[in-house]
Amino acid sequence: MKISVIGDIHPAGWEVFKKTDFEVFEIKNFEPNNLKEELKNVDGILLRTSKLDKSILSNCNNLKIIARHGVGYDNIDYEYLKEKKIALTITGTSNAVTVAEYVLTCFLSLARNINSSDKLVREGRFKEKKTLPDFFELYKKKVLICGFGRIGKAVAKRCLGFEADVHVYDPFVDDKEIIKANCIPSQKEEGLRIADYVTLHLPLNQNTQNFVSKHELAYIKKTAIVVNASRGGIINEEALIAALDNNQIQAAALDVFEKEPPQNDHPLYQFNNVLLSPHNSALTLECRRRMSIEAATSIVDYFLDKKKLNLDNLVNKNDIEI
Ligand SMILES: NC(=O)c1ccc[n+]([C@@H]2O[C@H](COP(=O)([O-])OP(=O)(O)OC[C@H]3O[C@@H](n4cnc5c(N)ncnc54)[C@H](O)[C@@H]3O)[C@@H](O)[C@H]2O)c1
Repeated sequence: MKISVIGDIHPAGWEVFKKTDFEVFEIKNFEPNNLKEELKNVDGILLRTSKLDKSILSNCNNLKIIARHGVGYDNIDYEYLKEKKIALTITGTSNAVTVAEYVLTCFLSLARNINSSDKLVREGRFKEKKTLPDFFELYKKKVLICGFGRIGKAVAKRCLGFEADVHVYDPFVDDKEIIKANCIPSQKEEGLRIADYVTLHLPLNQNTQNFVSKHELAYIKKTAIVVNASRGGIINEEALIAALDNNQIQAAALDVFEKEPPQNDHPLYQFNNVLLSPHNSALTLECRRRMSIEAATSIVDYFLDKKKLNLDNLVNKNDIEI
């Protein structure tokens, strides 16, 4: 089998491949023309974040599986994979906890205004702590989680640990499941109106693009903290900037952007009450190792023993024969 790894992965994934006789090579040049050339004869692809559209995929003559290193797959032409019965796997068990820890980091850092305290001490103004603005707790506050999948559930558990009231909006999950997890089922608007903390864990699609936009930001609490570690575009950036400018929300954190990387002079950079990160909320060392092993294992199992394949990770299981 000829397998290409597009992007840099933790060495543990390479160890998985070493136990096979597969020919595995890394692609470092992600230009579409190079991908077309290098992927021509591969049987499998382990993919980080490069975009694989139809023009590239239709050039892959032998492709049978793409293993995404991560859980989102909006960088791949999924309809094409379904049509051609090419398997698509994700690393569903690897990163929920990791992204959830990022969300809690943002909630607590922003609520505590930790950057301002740190700056004050470094500037030798220790005694001026009274000049800092009020800061807040998570304890007994209302958290709204939009999207109660793998990550949403992991965030809920951690917020419950802080004794927050956890409200959940996910029309595709039965209320009973939400209640069983000690959370409170909510509608979108009702939840956004009452939440002190909002976090988004939705896939990016036509229904979720601009999920939080001007309309929603107009009725979110002025004291609310909003975090997006799902996909850029689920919060409308222009509307968010306007809301921050007009003090319509307390603070925000973004790990993902409408355009990645964002422009050098992005208007979001001017706000002290905004935390930004380069789409790395899932990239702890532990998680990179897990994702690398999980993605490589999917490819190995697919070719050597399909019965071992983790079907929860197989996105298009209804369209391909296993
Ligand atoms: N920032 C990062 O590095 C990073 C890492 C991992 C995942 N993600 C992103 O996080 C998102 C969530 O990941 P996950 O593993 O929890 O996915 P998941 O598929 O387990 O959960 C998504 C949930 O969203 C719900 N949902 C779908 N459409 C909805 C809508 N219109 N309104 C409300 N709920 C809706 C689904 O019912 C599902 O429960 C994905 O977009 C993924 O790409 C980002």
